[in-house]
Amino acid sequence: MGEKKRAVAIDGPSGAGKSTLARAVARKLGFRYVDTGAIYRSVGYFAFSKGVAPSDWEAVMKLLPEISLEISYDGDGLQHMSINGRDVTREIRLPEISMYASRVSAIPAVRDFLMETQRSMARTHDVIMDGRDIGTVVLPGADVKIFLTATPEDRAMRRYLELKERGTPQDYNKLLTEIRERDYNDSHRSAAPLRPAEDAVVLDTTGNTFEQSFQLLLRTIEERL
Ligand code: DC
Repeated sequence: MGEKKRAVAIDGPSGAGKSTLARAVARKLGFRYVDTGAIYRSVGYFAFSKGVAPSDWEAVMKLLPEISLEISYDGDGLQHMSINGRDVTREIRLPEISMYASRVSAIPAVRDFLMETQRSMARTHDVIMDGRDIGTVVLPGADVKIFLTATPEDRAMRRYLELKERGTPQDYNKLLTEIRERDYNDSHRSAAPLRPAEDAVVLDTTGNTFEQSFQLLLRTIEERL
């Protein structure tokens, strides 16, 4: 504590490889990786588990005082999420929760509710934080801001291969439609829409291997820190 902590903000659309790349780079630099999507997913999951529709803003807002979120890290730097003492790390990755998270994240009260949780992590640790509005809203003073993107087709293909590998294949066209729908929701909402910060470096990873994107991201961050 004491000295100023360093912060790297990584924003971009879903499926651009933000979390895998950010985690790998954080490990390499000895920073803490903060996945803010997981925080929104936890709220989405809570609404889902209570049978509350994400389009019902009033009902979602009423749930917020009931939520106590905890973020912890295991030895591998993997982020775990708990709600009211229950570990939901796995559940928040269910496909139906992606859309719930995207919908509840459009509610300004939800964004306000999660702001301090995110900022407090950056006060106590050197962080690489990924999300949609980290460089624009959560950490506008971040030392490095990256906007990581790739074409929707490339992102849908990555997701397709990932699910196939996991033994839970899904139709490529369905995944592409979902990615487009989430892109639209995330960038057209009025509260903190997805967009690059003016001082962000835009990195397009279309067609790259993981190693190529990893080196590109690491170099970009190291040069600026
Ligand atoms: O990164 P992800 O796909 O796990 O995020 C899930 C949803 O949460 C995403 O569709 C938009 C929302 N989100 C957000 O609005 N702001 C953030 N900083 C992170 C995620």
